[in-house]
Amino acid sequence: MTDLIPPDSFLSDVQTLRDRARQSIEDGAITPDYQGDPRKTVEILQSVLATELVCVLRYTQHSIAAAGISSQGVKAEFAEHAKEEHEHALAVAERINQLGGTPNFNPEGLATRSASQFAAGENLVDMIKENLIAERIAVEHYRELIRYFGDKDPTTRVMIEGILAVEEEHADDMHDLLIAHEGKPMIEDK
Ligand SMILES: [Fe+2]
Ligand SMILES: [Fe+2]
Repeated sequence: MTDLIPPDSFLSDVQTLRDRARQSIEDGAITPDYQGDPRKTVEILQSVLATELVCVLRYTQHSIAAAGISSQGVKAEFAEHAKEEHEHALAVAERINQLGGTPNFNPEGLATRSASQFAAGENLVDMIKENLIAERIAVEHYRELIRYFGDKDPTTRVMIEGILAVEEEHADDMHDLLIAHEGKPMIEDK
Protein backbone atom coordinates (compact mmCIF):
# COMPACT_ATOMS: atom_id res chain seq x y z
CA MET A 1 0.00 0.00 0.00
CA THR A 2 3.06 2.27 -0.08
CA ASP A 3 3.20 3.23 -3.73
CA LEU A 4 -0.02 5.22 -3.91
CA ILE A 5 -0.53 7.64 -6.78
CA PRO A 6 1.78 10.60 -6.07
CA PRO A 7 -0.22 13.72 -5.18
CA ASP A 8 1.15 15.71 -8.15
CA SER A 9 -0.04 13.27 -10.80
CA PHE A 10 -3.74 12.67 -10.66
CA LEU A 11 -3.76 9.79 -13.11
CA SER A 12 -1.27 6.95 -13.24
CA ASP A 13 0.08 6.01 -16.64
CA VAL A 14 -0.92 2.68 -18.08
CA GLN A 15 2.53 1.13 -17.64
CA THR A 16 2.60 1.97 -13.92
CA LEU A 17 -0.87 0.49 -13.50
CA ARG A 18 0.18 -2.69 -15.29
CA ASP A 19 3.36 -3.02 -13.26
CA ARG A 20 1.49 -2.62 -10.01
CA ALA A 21 -1.13 -5.15 -11.07
CA ARG A 22 1.59 -7.67 -11.89
CA GLN A 23 3.40 -7.12 -8.58
CA SER A 24 0.47 -8.25 -6.49
CA ILE A 25 -1.34 -10.81 -8.56
CA GLU A 26 -2.03 -12.86 -5.45
CA ASP A 27 -4.17 -10.02 -4.08
CA GLY A 28 -6.79 -10.67 -6.78
CA ALA A 29 -9.02 -7.66 -7.29
CA ILE A 30 -7.31 -5.64 -4.55
CA THR A 31 -4.86 -3.32 -6.28
CA PRO A 32 -2.33 -1.22 -4.32
CA ASP A 33 -4.43 1.93 -4.70
CA TYR A 34 -7.30 0.25 -2.86
CA GLN A 35 -7.74 2.67 0.00
CA GLY A 36 -10.06 0.58 2.09
CA ASP A 37 -9.05 -2.04 4.60
CA PRO A 38 -9.94 -5.31 2.82
CA ARG A 39 -10.24 -7.23 6.08
CA LYS A 40 -12.60 -4.67 7.57
CA THR A 41 -14.59 -4.50 4.31
CA VAL A 42 -15.00 -8.27 4.26
CA GLU A 43 -16.14 -8.21 7.89
CA ILE A 44 -18.76 -5.55 7.12
CA LEU A 45 -19.90 -7.41 3.99
CA GLN A 46 -20.31 -10.65 5.97
CA SER A 47 -22.92 -8.85 8.05
CA VAL A 48 -24.59 -7.48 4.90
CA LEU A 49 -24.63 -11.02 3.50
CA ALA A 50 -26.24 -12.31 6.70
CA THR A 51 -28.81 -9.51 6.56
CA GLU A 52 -29.72 -10.40 2.99
CA LEU A 53 -29.92 -14.13 3.75
CA VAL A 54 -32.24 -13.50 6.69
CA CYS A 55 -34.38 -11.38 4.35
CA VAL A 56 -34.49 -14.25 1.82
CA LEU A 57 -35.65 -16.64 4.56
CA ARG A 58 -38.23 -14.26 6.01
CA TYR A 59 -39.80 -13.31 2.67
CA THR A 60 -39.77 -16.93 1.49
CA GLN A 61 -41.48 -18.09 4.67
CA HIS A 62 -44.06 -15.31 4.37
CA SER A 63 -44.69 -16.05 0.70
CA ILE A 64 -45.62 -19.62 1.63
CA ALA A 65 -47.37 -19.03 4.95
CA ALA A 66 -49.46 -15.97 4.09
CA ALA A 67 -53.13 -16.91 4.16
CA GLY A 68 -56.50 -15.28 3.78
CA ILE A 69 -58.78 -14.02 1.04
CA SER A 70 -56.63 -11.05 0.10
CA SER A 71 -53.28 -12.82 0.39
CA GLN A 72 -52.63 -13.85 -3.22
CA GLY A 73 -51.18 -10.55 -4.42
CA VAL A 74 -49.22 -10.17 -1.21
CA LYS A 75 -47.74 -13.68 -1.51
CA ALA A 76 -46.53 -12.84 -5.00
CA GLU A 77 -44.97 -9.63 -3.72
CA PHE A 78 -43.19 -11.49 -0.89
CA ALA A 79 -41.88 -14.07 -3.37
CA GLU A 80 -40.59 -11.34 -5.68
CA HIS A 81 -38.79 -9.68 -2.77
CA ALA A 82 -37.27 -13.01 -1.70
CA LYS A 83 -35.83 -13.36 -5.20
CA GLU A 84 -34.34 -9.87 -5.13
CA GLU A 85 -32.85 -10.40 -1.64
CA HIS A 86 -31.25 -13.56 -3.01
CA GLU A 87 -29.68 -11.55 -5.85
CA HIS A 88 -28.33 -9.09 -3.27
CA ALA A 89 -26.85 -11.93 -1.22
CA LEU A 90 -25.09 -13.30 -4.31
CA ALA A 91 -23.66 -9.91 -5.29
CA VAL A 92 -22.34 -9.35 -1.76
CA ALA A 93 -20.87 -12.87 -1.62
CA GLU A 94 -19.10 -12.27 -4.95
CA ARG A 95 -17.60 -9.05 -3.62
CA ILE A 96 -16.38 -10.78 -0.46
CA ASN A 97 -14.74 -13.38 -2.67
CA GLN A 98 -13.12 -10.69 -4.85
CA LEU A 99 -11.67 -9.08 -1.75
CA GLY A 100 -10.05 -12.33 -0.71
CA GLY A 101 -12.61 -13.41 1.88
CA THR A 102 -14.81 -16.47 2.09
CA PRO A 103 -18.51 -15.61 2.10
CA ASN A 104 -20.07 -16.94 5.29
CA PHE A 105 -23.20 -18.96 4.52
CA ASN A 106 -23.08 -20.86 7.79
CA PRO A 107 -26.60 -21.00 9.28
CA GLU A 108 -25.03 -21.09 12.73
CA GLY A 109 -24.95 -17.55 14.07
CA LEU A 110 -26.72 -16.19 10.99
CA ALA A 111 -29.31 -14.27 13.02
CA THR A 112 -26.61 -12.65 15.18
CA ARG A 113 -24.55 -11.57 12.18
CA SER A 114 -27.61 -10.04 10.52
CA ALA A 115 -28.79 -6.47 11.04
CA SER A 116 -32.41 -7.46 10.38
CA GLN A 117 -34.41 -10.08 12.24
CA PHE A 118 -36.30 -13.15 11.29
CA ALA A 119 -39.91 -12.93 12.41
CA ALA A 120 -42.55 -15.30 11.14
CA GLY A 121 -45.56 -13.03 11.71
CA GLU A 122 -48.91 -14.29 13.02
CA ASN A 123 -51.04 -12.96 10.19
CA LEU A 124 -50.78 -11.08 6.92
CA VAL A 125 -50.63 -7.61 8.48
CA ASP A 126 -48.02 -8.78 11.00
CA MET A 127 -45.90 -10.15 8.17
CA ILE A 128 -46.10 -6.90 6.24
CA LYS A 129 -45.13 -4.98 9.38
CA GLU A 130 -42.15 -7.26 10.06
CA ASN A 131 -40.92 -6.80 6.51
CA LEU A 132 -41.35 -3.05 6.66
CA ILE A 133 -39.33 -2.91 9.89
CA ALA A 134 -36.59 -5.10 8.39
CA GLU A 135 -36.43 -2.96 5.24
CA ARG A 136 -36.15 0.22 7.25
CA ILE A 137 -33.29 -1.26 9.27
CA ALA A 138 -31.53 -2.31 6.06
CA VAL A 139 -32.05 1.12 4.47
CA GLU A 140 -30.57 2.88 7.48
CA HIS A 141 -27.66 0.45 7.75
CA TYR A 142 -26.80 0.64 4.03
CA ARG A 143 -26.93 4.45 3.97
CA GLU A 144 -24.39 4.43 6.75
CA LEU A 145 -22.18 1.98 4.85
CA ILE A 146 -22.33 4.11 1.69
CA ARG A 147 -20.98 7.04 3.70
CA TYR A 148 -18.34 4.77 5.24
CA PHE A 149 -17.04 3.38 1.93
CA GLY A 150 -17.14 6.78 0.21
CA ASP A 151 -14.06 7.03 -2.04
CA LYS A 152 -12.13 4.39 -0.12
CA ASP A 153 -13.86 1.58 -1.98
CA PRO A 154 -16.09 2.90 -4.79
CA THR A 155 -16.87 -0.60 -6.11
CA THR A 156 -18.35 -1.74 -2.83
CA ARG A 157 -20.07 1.61 -2.38
CA VAL A 158 -21.72 1.46 -5.82
CA MET A 159 -22.88 -2.10 -5.16
CA ILE A 160 -24.46 -1.07 -1.85
CA GLU A 161 -26.04 1.96 -3.53
CA GLY A 162 -27.72 -0.36 -6.04
CA ILE A 163 -28.96 -2.61 -3.24
CA LEU A 164 -30.16 0.38 -1.21
CA ALA A 165 -32.33 1.60 -4.12
CA VAL A 166 -34.09 -1.78 -4.20
CA GLU A 167 -34.53 -1.88 -0.40
CA GLU A 168 -36.16 1.55 -0.58
CA GLU A 169 -38.60 0.18 -3.17
CA HIS A 170 -39.25 -2.81 -0.92
CA ALA A 171 -39.98 -0.54 2.05
CA ASP A 172 -42.31 1.50 -0.13
CA ASP A 173 -44.11 -1.64 -1.35
CA MET A 174 -44.59 -2.85 2.24
CA HIS A 175 -45.82 0.57 3.28
CA ASP A 176 -48.39 0.56 0.44
CA LEU A 177 -49.51 -2.98 1.33
CA LEU A 178 -49.92 -1.99 4.95
CA ILE A 179 -52.12 0.95 4.02
CA ALA A 180 -54.14 -1.28 1.66
CA HIS A 181 -54.67 -3.89 4.40
CA GLU A 182 -54.87 -1.77 7.49
CA GLY A 183 -55.83 1.63 6.17
CA LYS A 184 -53.07 3.49 8.02
CA PRO A 185 -49.31 3.57 8.07
CA MET A 186 -47.83 1.79 11.09
CA ILE A 187 -44.63 3.70 11.55
CA GLU A 188 -44.88 7.39 12.18
CA ASP A 189 -41.98 9.40 10.83
CA LYS A 190 -39.66 10.55 13.56
FE1 LIG B 1 -31.76 -6.92 -0.06
FE1 LIG C 1 -35.42 -5.71 0.82
